[in-house]
Amino acid sequence: MAVEKKRLLTGLQPSGQLHLGNYLGALKPFVESYNEYESYLMVVDYHALTSLKDPAQLRENIIDVVADYVAAGVNPSQATIFKQSDVPEHTELAWIFECLVTVPFLQQSHAYKDKIAKGLEANAGLFNYPMLMAADILMYDTDIVPVGADQRQHVEYAREAAAKFNLAYGQTFKEPKEKIQETIATIPGTDGKKMSKSYGNTIPLFGTDDAIRTAVMSIKTDSKAVGEPLDPATDIAFQLHQHFSPNLAEVQKRYMDGTIGYKESKELLANNIIATISPMREKRAALSREAIIQILKDGAEVARARASVKMKEVREKVGVALY
Ligand code: ADP
Ligand code: TRP
Repeated sequence: MAVEKKRLLTGLQPSGQLHLGNYLGALKPFVESYNEYESYLMVVDYHALTSLKDPAQLRENIIDVVADYVAAGVNPSQATIFKQSDVPEHTELAWIFECLVTVPFLQQSHAYKDKIAKGLEANAGLFNYPMLMAADILMYDTDIVPVGADQRQHVEYAREAAAKFNLAYGQTFKEPKEKIQETIATIPGTDGKKMSKSYGNTIPLFGTDDAIRTAVMSIKTDSKAVGEPLDPATDIAFQLHQHFSPNLAEVQKRYMDGTIGYKESKELLANNIIATISPMREKRAALSREAIIQILKDGAEVARARASVKMKEVREKVGVALY
């Protein structure tokens, strides 16, 4: 008897250019594990509306994020890739959950408080964000939700929404579990802080060779001269060598015995980064806008078929279905 695969679902923010930190911390681990599950990959465009008010930018970002995942190795025939707004049942279910939870409960959201503290507008969409995310997850009887550590509480909110609904109306939703990406480590940016688009210290994932070289050459170093031994434990470039360089032991030896300078180390690193990502970049360049749109359309059909069955059950249970 065939063992049924567990169901995995994650949401991708359509938020622009990815960097090497995103690749190593999120894309690569996803690509390496999604095949073990029945996987759903959803572009959360309605979540993006809580902060992005530029329609042209949103359209472009939606296409980009799908292209990024496919280029990084997600096979669209082995995962359902779709856009949240193509399945209106998500916002419908979110409303039902919002009627089951209280304002003080939502006020506990760390993500909400952090975003307000950063100066984002406290719009009602941002406040209700966790219930839309709960709907995203619970709609598909998801078992596993791979997310970054900052999303742990959001998955707890989804479990709470499931429990509250089940208590009020009878067993309907499965309680999902988060799968926190055990990131190899926080990937440092060119200044040594966490690589992040908010810090302007990134090395782009799909940049041109020149853009990658320029970013790598700008990595901060101390002032040791060529010929002096370098410390692999503290050097930022060396942290990146660990993820991209095939002859790591050799590079480490040359650091310790002083036979490599920072400039040569960075040139070698840039070459190794380019060698790793250029096949993905070529794949990405070969993906047409039409091909991406077709992937999203096909995915929407699969997702909607499932969501409509689930919502029919929900409408009956809450008492709005009369005919
Ligand atoms: P940014 O900090 O650039 O805004 P996000 O918060 O959008 O990045 O990150 C999306 C995902 O990418 C995170 O959940 C995390 O898994 C991964 N990620 C981002 N930056 C890094 C980093 N410097 N090191 C490791 N993983 C990272
Ligand atoms: N809130 C998630 C983030 O910021 C995105 C998201 C929306 C999501 N819906 C989801 C993630 C459902 C996993 C499952 O990254």
